[in-house]
Amino acid sequence: MKDTIYVFGNWKMNMTEKETSAYFERFLSSCCVAKRYPDCGCSVVVFPPYTSIPETRNCLERHYQRQRVQCLVEYGAQDVHYAQQGAYTGEISLPMLHELGCTWVLLGHSERRHLFDETDESISQKVCACLDSGIRPVLCFGETLDQRETKKTQEIVTRQITSVLSATENHPERKRLVFAYEPVWAIGTGRAATPGDAEEICGFAAGVLKQNVGYRELTIPFLYGGSVSPANAKELLLQEHISGLLVGGASLKPDAFLEIIDRAMEGNVESSR
Ligand code: PGA
Repeated sequence: MKDTIYVFGNWKMNMTEKETSAYFERFLSSCCVAKRYPDCGCSVVVFPPYTSIPETRNCLERHYQRQRVQCLVEYGAQDVHYAQQGAYTGEISLPMLHELGCTWVLLGHSERRHLFDETDESISQKVCACLDSGIRPVLCFGETLDQRETKKTQEIVTRQITSVLSATENHPERKRLVFAYEPVWAIGTGRAATPGDAEEICGFAAGVLKQNVGYRELTIPFLYGGSVSPANAKELLLQEHISGLLVGGASLKPDAFLEIIDRAMEGNVESSR
């Protein structure tokens, strides 16, 4: 059993402020992350669009006050600029996210790489800036269908991971990094990787990590993302190298997201038996 598992919800460009408030009303009324599996640490993080982050904070704060318990849900942003401030029209900085209480940032999502031309270099710069500022980066990596069919998966995965590992080589906070394997062909298609395929690539990526870092950092967790649903969440968490899930479409429905959290915890608890 893994000490902590991670269930992350990437809302992408969905959810207005009003919709966010309705979402949390439903989600938080049934969210009992720790109750069914008290021994299973589960880090639940939602990634709303920037404009819904303040409402996310309000909803979670109100919930803490009402319930007088520390709710386990955190929130983060879907991207960030590496500079602290300046002439970057349309961008958002880490100090801005800090002030809103964000503790995580997604980086290198395939939609950013492919629709907005993000490169390994710019992603690595952002990872370093996050680590400097105490915000935890989630580095997304994964191959396209064409790369998979031409047997380039390992080459692509190695390139995307080692680029970030070399940029962060001497960074004291590097162990706060989280990796998310998201095969591009599985995102939003309803065609998830099989748990066996996802495990194979996460195991391979863990090997790349091992060759590049000291033993202290080998605990950097790997998540799987791409058409995660209540039906496959448990099986994915039964895999040795998968410590969590990055959920897109299904995280927009509070009940489905809650069920995924539950199934993931169930899988983790069962994996120890
Ligand atoms: P999906 O998206 O779950 O809708 O496939 C995953 C992601 O893009 O992070």
